[in-house]
Amino acid sequence: MRSHRIALLPGDGIGPEITAATTKVLKALAKKNNFELIFEEHLMGGAAIERTNSPLPLDTLSACKSSDAVLMAAIGNPKFDCNPRENRPETGLLKLREELKLFANIRPVKIFPSLLKASSLKPEIISGVDLIVVRELTGGIYFGQPKGQVKTDTGVRAFNTMTYSDDEIDRIVKVAFELAQNRSKRLCSVDKANVLDVSQLWRDRVNLLAKNYQDVEVNHQYVDNTSMQLVREPIQFDVIVTSNLFGDILSDEAAMLTGSIGMLPSASLGSNGPGLFEPVHGSAPDIAGLDKANPIAMMLSAAMMLRIGLKESTAANELENSIEEVLRSGFRTCDLMSEGCLQLGCEAIGEEIIKAL
Ligand code: IPM
Ligand code: MG
Repeated sequence: MRSHRIALLPGDGIGPEITAATTKVLKALAKKNNFELIFEEHLMGGAAIERTNSPLPLDTLSACKSSDAVLMAAIGNPKFDCNPRENRPETGLLKLREELKLFANIRPVKIFPSLLKASSLKPEIISGVDLIVVRELTGGIYFGQPKGQVKTDTGVRAFNTMTYSDDEIDRIVKVAFELAQNRSKRLCSVDKANVLDVSQLWRDRVNLLAKNYQDVEVNHQYVDNTSMQLVREPIQFDVIVTSNLFGDILSDEAAMLTGSIGMLPSASLGSNGPGLFEPVHGSAPDIAGLDKANPIAMMLSAAMMLRIGLKESTAANELENSIEEVLRSGFRTCDLMSEGCLQLGCEAIGEEIIKAL
């Protein structure tokens, strides 16, 4: 029997409840499709700080490195917001991305027809939207040196460095071009080349690489314009490629097209080794433990894990189809609720998704 080892990182806040719902669905899928999933749960984020004083303990990191795929729920706990930076939940996630060399973050945004009314935008604006944000994940201002805070004669000064080398840009832009080739062959590269030198290099590299992908139509947008275009006319986008910080911001914005950030999955990939699959949303501490969380983004992330990380595409399709069917039947978590629908908790919607498999 095919067997896959998954490093499971429930993390903080709503993390454990959406993890429970997702692993239940995954177990049902494995049984149905005759493969075995071995889950190894590990501490990460605030939960790890509490128990080990580190947001990414060494045994978690080595378990992730030796797994076939890493499935994470969410990290973050306001309790640690004042900790020194190396001891915050977010730092553990950045370290994990860096250690696994996950430079390519893929965030698909697809509108479920049954959720057209759940978006804050008009249905005619979002109908048919199907785009992918390809975000560079291990460089840019998130990791650039120098960074820090210094005392000055008059007070304090803090600084970060936005930096990219040509090869860092090339490898992420290639991922985006290849994705675009297999879709509608349109690539939008997002930068701030009218102001930033680092963006000018980004734009120059995209133009250079475009020569190798003549079948793909490339356009460039400034990030401020993209943030406007995403709500004005999102249908214009197919594949968007951008840097770490711009991708962070634009993917949250793009998530809201779907009605809830609770719907957006992501895959973080390197050149080889296990990928990391995680929802785009955070740990939502305000609703943690109340069985109110929407587990669908994590389940859709699990579907990406099945398809990309474990090559179990039949199971991936079945999972996505059954999510679609449950939504079509009118079941909703509270973040997606609209008139005439039936509100369910995290666990119950998971049960419906299993029934629909
Ligand atoms: C994301 C998150 C993370 C990021 C945080 C939690 C460090 O916002 O994955 O988008 O900024 O990358
Ligand atoms: Mg983010």
